[in-house]
Amino acid sequence: MTTSTDHQDSAAMAATAVQCVTVDLGERTYPIHIGPGLLRQADHYIGPLVDGRHLVVIADQAVAGSHMTTLTASLSGLAARLDTITVASGEASKSIACFGQVMEQVLALNVDRKVMLIALGGGVIGDLVGYVAASLLRGVDFIQVPTTLLAQVDSSVGGKTGINARAGKNLIGAFHQPQAVLADTDTLATLPPREIRAGYAEVAKYGLLGDAEFFDWLDTNQGRILALDNAALTETVARCCLAKARIVAEDEKEGGRRALLNLGHTFGHAYEAEANYDGSVLHGEAVAAGMVDAYRLGVRLGTATQAELERVIDHLRRAGLPTTRAMLSNLLGEVSAEVLMRHMQKDKKVSDGAIVFIVPHGIGDARVDRDVDPAQAKAVLEAQNT
Ligand code: NAD
Ligand code: GLY
Repeated sequence: MTTSTDHQDSAAMAATAVQCVTVDLGERTYPIHIGPGLLRQADHYIGPLVDGRHLVVIADQAVAGSHMTTLTASLSGLAARLDTITVASGEASKSIACFGQVMEQVLALNVDRKVMLIALGGGVIGDLVGYVAASLLRGVDFIQVPTTLLAQVDSSVGGKTGINARAGKNLIGAFHQPQAVLADTDTLATLPPREIRAGYAEVAKYGLLGDAEFFDWLDTNQGRILALDNAALTETVARCCLAKARIVAEDEKEGGRRALLNLGHTFGHAYEAEANYDGSVLHGEAVAAGMVDAYRLGVRLGTATQAELERVIDHLRRAGLPTTRAMLSNLLGEVSAEVLMRHMQKDKKVSDGAIVFIVPHGIGDARVDRDVDPAQAKAVLEAQNT
């Protein structure tokens, strides 16, 4: 993995230098371009990948209105043909039905295997379009253009694609890496503040699981990030992508270390499952409360101190994120520790019947642990009943 700064981009450089992180996967290596103004200059950043090809841009409906024209105006001169498709916003679009509709729409455009799909939107569109790309004609190229903070720091990188089944979230999918990622920080200006805060939970996660110095930096710069200061955002997205790129290069298919990216997700997915993934609790909000639970578990297991737990709570609270189940309960309703434990047992991170926990060891270190006594996790949840 490398990072570099683009000196050709003089317009953007005047304000903020564009950064490039490389995901190093041999012949499937790809760049992540990060910074302001990238949609406008998409021809410069992804030109060689799209030149002379049939492009199909598949966008979130809410995003298309603000950002589709900027992207297509930049690429239309290069493409042999450019088509657009819009998909309804929201998690419900990660369904078998919607996957089928998009697949039929793309096939109706008479595409061949040289087509390039472009996903314009948040994690929902990235996961859906990535899975369409993985399946269409047994696999075609695609580019991720993430427009939420969560998608820029996490879901657009690493090649996990998929949709939801009645039996659970993300249960149908494939590992299929994009050819490039274009993370334009300017697109975040139209994102609702609650979505920015939710994405910030994943940002904090990278500091907590592997980079204490980054967490210190976030402590100082959190306000700038949430206020969408372009320089702070570019630095943040680049640092998160670099951290994820290192982990993915080491463990692309989550045989081991990649599971660290699930810090806070074991508890968090239980909250999301309780909300039926209906959007009332955002993924990042559940992860924020879940990371605090993971630190409470760490305190019980002796791998984190009370002072570290309190620092994490203070950090997430200042970002406007929920840090207790009580804070989520106006979204979730009251829910018992027993019910949450049942959700955890059903999660796809259960391995050979054991719930897999990502246990924090202080700030900036976390370990995958398959041997945590579930009674300890239940005690963490029960302690919040009082
Ligand atoms: P999302 O894609 O639903 O976007 C959130 C909301 O913001 C939507 O209403 C969308 O219409 C709107 N939106 C997006 N960009 C916008 C913009 N620039 N301006 C205005 N509105 C905008 O949600 P998300 O939080 O980006 O992603 C969540 C999804 O990501 C979940 O399905 C989750 O499973 C998945 N995910 C995948 C991975 C992975 O590695 N593949 C990792 C984490 C999460
Ligand atoms: N978001 C978890 C992963 O990509 O592995």
